[in-house]
Amino acid sequence: MTYIGGSGRFRGARGGLDTRAGRGQAGSMATINELAPPYRVGYFVGSLSATSINRSLATALLRLAPQDLVFTEIRIGGLPLYNRDFDGDFPPAAREFKAAIAAQEALLFVTPEYNRSLPGALKNAIDWASRPAGENVIARKATAVIGASPGPIGTAVAQQQLRSVLSFLQAPQMNAPEAYIQLRPGLIAEDGTVTDERTEDFLRGFMGSFFEFIERVLTVVPKPRP
Ligand code: FNR
Repeated sequence: MTYIGGSGRFRGARGGLDTRAGRGQAGSMATINELAPPYRVGYFVGSLSATSINRSLATALLRLAPQDLVFTEIRIGGLPLYNRDFDGDFPPAAREFKAAIAAQEALLFVTPEYNRSLPGALKNAIDWASRPAGENVIARKATAVIGASPGPIGTAVAQQQLRSVLSFLQAPQMNAPEAYIQLRPGLIAEDGTVTDERTEDFLRGFMGSFFEFIERVLTVVPKPRP
């Protein structure tokens, strides 16, 4: 399913720079966007639970995101367990999964913490995405990680481990802001509305920062002439 980000706060807010390819002024510092917005963002929910608090968080993030981000959920629940014996001929579910990732400019991971690590279902999905050798579709995607738990650690340990995996897979990562969400009952309504104003502002800022990060990753700044 595809969603358009809701707030529109960052639409067109690029400081007057002409960011379209080929439009830079000769002799001046110009930026060239390989791709103009809107940007396609695939998102993963690391929980398979029908009552997942991380799915609620993802719904809230989509509502609060800049309009120039277009979201597609990339589901991980239908994948078989990764086995390198399939590297020569991936099953259809894994081929579709990889094609869905390849079609995105950026990836957002919204994940719980399981036993101080990332959930096995998410790690399994990433393993499919990374293989066969030389066909890692996560490489060079702009990525961000966020997660929610009922406890105060707010998935911090899982996120560190996920960051380590994304590093190995050569995905540029948004380093800051970090977001470790302690999600108490009622904080996010069923429709994704955030009931606490400070949390809402924080999550909106997180998605605004992600938009800016994606734009930086996709923007080429040429070297000044000698
Ligand atoms: C958990 N939970 C948990 N919470 C946490 O903060 N750190 C942890 O290491 C773990 N470990 C863990 C392992 C397993 C197998 C389960 C099922 C749960 C609790 C977890 O944060 C809580 O169940 C969340 O609600 C899970 O997120 P979703 O599925 O609701 O999105």
